[in-house]
Amino acid sequence: MKRDIIDLLYKMNGEYLSGEEMADFLNMTRANVWKYIKELRGHGFDIESSTKKGYVLSCVGKNLNEDTLYYHFKKQSFVNEVIFFETIDSTNDFLKYHKEELEDNTLVVAKRQMKGRGRRTREFVSDEGGLYFSFLTKNNMEMKEVAFVTSIAAVAVHEALCDLGVPTKIKWPNDIILKDKKLCGILTEMVTDMEQSNQIIIGIGINVSNQFPKELSMIATSLSENGYQIEEVTLLQKIFERFDEFYNLFLEGNTLKALEILRENSYLFGKQIRFLKENTEYTGTVTGIEENGNLTVETEDGECVFLNSGEVTILKKGQQV
Ligand code: BTN
Repeated sequence: MKRDIIDLLYKMNGEYLSGEEMADFLNMTRANVWKYIKELRGHGFDIESSTKKGYVLSCVGKNLNEDTLYYHFKKQSFVNEVIFFETIDSTNDFLKYHKEELEDNTLVVAKRQMKGRGRRTREFVSDEGGLYFSFLTKNNMEMKEVAFVTSIAAVAVHEALCDLGVPTKIKWPNDIILKDKKLCGILTEMVTDMEQSNQIIIGIGINVSNQFPKELSMIATSLSENGYQIEEVTLLQKIFERFDEFYNLFLEGNTLKALEILRENSYLFGKQIRFLKENTEYTGTVTGIEENGNLTVETEDGECVFLNSGEVTILKKGQQV
């Protein structure tokens, strides 16, 4: 019902509409119209009222709630549905458990996660002040393509942040780095539906203004810690604008632009790293990213090793190899 009012105000495009007309259009009582208008005002909707002319929507705030998200994502044709939670266990888990009844391209956003998950069954600390969201895409993909989707998500987040003036780097395969610390992590998971068709859940956690436990403050950073005051809704919209662009190119088989961004903004190029591949530990220097998104590393004995997923540890100068 409230969404019907938002739709109507949106359609009115700055024109007044009386409470009576609204009630008629929406088949609800004027008392209900008034109740929802009050709720929307409380959620950042600047709705002016005049006894003669009725109501007009003059502007919509950017604070994060179900109504502002619904309004701001109305213009986004890529995201089909946005679901919002103040607190949830994990946005990835929500999509996992509800995938059958949800539409393709559903976005779930939360202000806080109680059981935020990172890669390799690690916890992802998700206190208030951060932006936590997951996206469900029902394109049936093969496992090898899924790894590239993570890179597409990383490119979208990186590009969105750069558009907003934040100079980030991409640490292959799924971290976004700001001033040598982690600003954002990405967890992509493949699930299958009842028809055994693959679906992908892309979970992203961005440190906007959240505080970290002491043990994390050495390796993690937030936008606000670096003087960037960016509204979560603005950031989300930008990310999905960019994701729409790069994901559709990827589905058409065009990964050139994404690869160029991954290469030009790589945090790892030229760095000494340690990693595990098929139970063997290697150390080497990162030399590039292949067409298929694999990382290339030249090991100490001159061998070229390709990595298509997994985790790498950067070796600092002086650290024992
Ligand atoms: C990592 O850095 O290891 C990946 C972190 C991914 C965190 C996001 S936050 C939204 C989504 N829900 C989760 O439980 N995890 C992902």
